Parts: sequence; structure tokens; C-alpha cells
Amino acid sequence: MLHPRIIVAKNPEEVGKLAADLFETEIQKKPACVLGLATGSTPLPLYSELVAREKSGKIDFSKVRSANLDEYKGLTPDHEQSYFSFMRNNLFKHISIKPENTIIPSGISEDVEAMCEEYETKIEEWGGVDVQLLGIGHDGHIGFNEPCDHFPQKTHEVKLADMTIEANKRFFNSADEVPKAAVTMGIGTIMAAKKIIMLATGADKKEILHKTFWGSVTPQVPASILQFHPDVTVICDEAAYPF
Ligand code: PGA
Repeated sequence: MLHPRIIVAKNPEEVGKLAADLFETEIQKKPACVLGLATGSTPLPLYSELVAREKSGKIDFSKVRSANLDEYKGLTPDHEQSYFSFMRNNLFKHISIKPENTIIPSGISEDVEAMCEEYETKIEEWGGVDVQLLGIGHDGHIGFNEPCDHFPQKTHEVKLADMTIEANKRFFNSADEVPKAAVTMGIGTIMAAKKIIMLATGADKKEILHKTFWGSVTPQVPASILQFHPDVTVICDEAAYPF
């Protein structure tokens, strides 16, 4: 069992800057690297920092490829709360990454199984994810892999946990409008990434961070499987630091 490298930053902005340093190093080393990207509030300071660094000439996204973790079921790409819109508005439209080099699972595919298989194949064709960015849910989800009785391996459709719907209703008019299902990379897809960077900010993430990395490895805390990944860096702010 491995403990992660853990970096403590003063605040969410500093978390963003420290994470951007790691991404900058990776992109300089391998300009066509494959990034696994995440949505949610936590990575926003990182994304602003990446945009600023490309504007100032420190990073070049023109060859970078990216695969996102997940998408809500039933939301069209142009829905303002789709993760497609999130990525476009917070990162992609501000940087030189090519749209054809960014993939996100489809929330509206008629044949979900085939779409999931294609998603996995595309990542494999790219040579796998070099750096996977993760946030963490209060229930220990990564991507939308919710607590359950096993670790789902591949990209698949999931039913969202009540806790997740509750946490995400802030982006919608009400909890009723939050989609009840999603498509997410599997735990196996995430574990196959060569390097993992998890960001966590705020006191509400402290307990789950502790459970994840210092508790038992169990599919009831999906992120706990990361104890078996050889290269995990957690960047958290002081409020989320689990000790
Ligand atoms: P958050 O979401 O960054 O908005 O807290 C994290 C997650 O649910 O994975």
C-alpha cells in the first residue's frame, strides 16, 4: 500500500499554480502528451493558470491531446451544464489545443456501450493517459465512479449517488434538474494512467482525503484504489490537509 506524495498549498489559487507547474513540466517533456482532464470547481484555478501560461508563452497546447473523465447522461454538448461546455468555456476555447485532440464521453449516444468501447480504444490508440487530473467527491468518487460493491473497470454508464446530485445542484436551478446518470471512465481506465494528480480544496474534503489514502481500500470509497497506484501526487490546500 502506498501513500501519495502530498503537497500542501495555502489556498485554492496556490493549488492551481502548483498543479500548473506539474502540467507545464509534463508538456515540455512531451509536447503531444495525453492529459486526462476533470471538471468541477476544484480544477478552475488550475485551468485559469494554464490559460495564462500559454498566453505568456510558457506552455504550448497545440500538440496536446486530452480525454475527459466523464459527462452527464442526457445533456447535449451545447447544454450550459454539460462537461463539454465546461471544458470549452474554462479551458479549450482559451488555448491552442485542437478540438479534434480533445475527447469527452458523449452524454447523448444511442449506443452507450459502443461509445464507451470507442472511448477506451481512442485512449489506447493515443498510447494511454500520461497525466490524469482528478478531483474527489465527498463520497470518494473519482470521475463519476460512485461507491458500489466492485471497482468498475472500463468507461461505463453510472447512476449518480444522492450525495453527488446534492453536491452538484448548485449548478442547476434545483436538484430535480441534475441528471441522474452519467458516463464515466472506469476505475481501471483511471488506474492505467501513468501519473495521477489529485486536487482537493476546502475543509469539506479533509475527511474523505484521509479515508481515501489512509483508510481501507474498498469500492465503497472508490478513490481508495489509488493506494495501489505507483505515482500519485495530491495537492491540497491547508483546509483540506487531512492531518
Ligand atoms: P468539485 O467536484 O471539484 O466541484 O468539488 C469534485 C468531484 O465531484 O469529483
